[in-house]
Amino acid sequence: MSSFDIWVRHFEANAKGHAAMDAAIDWQARPTLDARSRAAFVRSFQRFELGESGDGSHLLGMAAAAGDPVYTAALGLLVREEQKHSALFARGLRHLDALPLRSHWTDAAFTRLRRLLGLRTEIGLFLIAESVAMGYFIALADHAPDPVLRGFGHRIATDERNHIRFQIARLRQGFRDTPASSKRLVRIVWTLIAAGAAAVLVVDHGSALRACGISPIRYWGKAMRSFRAAARSALDVDDAVLLGPAR
Ligand SMILES: [Fe+2]
Ligand SMILES: [Fe+2]
Repeated sequence: MSSFDIWVRHFEANAKGHAAMDAAIDWQARPTLDARSRAAFVRSFQRFELGESGDGSHLLGMAAAAGDPVYTAALGLLVREEQKHSALFARGLRHLDALPLRSHWTDAAFTRLRRLLGLRTEIGLFLIAESVAMGYFIALADHAPDPVLRGFGHRIATDERNHIRFQIARLRQGFRDTPASSKRLVRIVWTLIAAGAAAVLVVDHGSALRACGISPIRYWGKAMRSFRAAARSALDVDDAVLLGPAR
């Protein structure tokens, strides 16, 4: 039996909870933002709408080749959650009376980079992206100056917390037989990428963060702390412990 059964069950149960959470958002409400905040969130949501829209076929193909069909099924369900996030950001854009973007260089560059890599490296990049963005979703959930934005921020933050745990569970397996010296090198490379990813996030989403009352510079530090905690959990913890979904 695969140790990822628990994750398939989690994602299946979570999908049932989504409808109720989405129904609690009053999408018909008029936006309560001033023009400046509206522009900030439009720019920010356009990037997230694109970033979460991939079909994951490359990633899922690599997972299938790695030979644990239960893990691949769980990853497929995670990809579906990301697509729902993209749809939520598109809906958020409609709420703000704006349109999605067709493409953006940060998304195209990230996709191109990921295509060059193996499964473990790609999951590592996933973990970096999610751990540096986690604080943004929480900021949206807790501090966005509009109830619809807070509603779907909360919805996405709830999913993402478990995405991070899911990536960590797989990485613990992936690094089980990796010597400590190689893991040190992995951590250095990840840290450099996380620093860059957090910087791009702060530039792309700085005005939206400010509209939530958060200083972009402070956000960068917070994102790096969140990344370091995730990396520690993925690389340092005894591999006998498989991380399960948060209750
Ligand atoms: Fe997401
Ligand atoms: Fe995610």
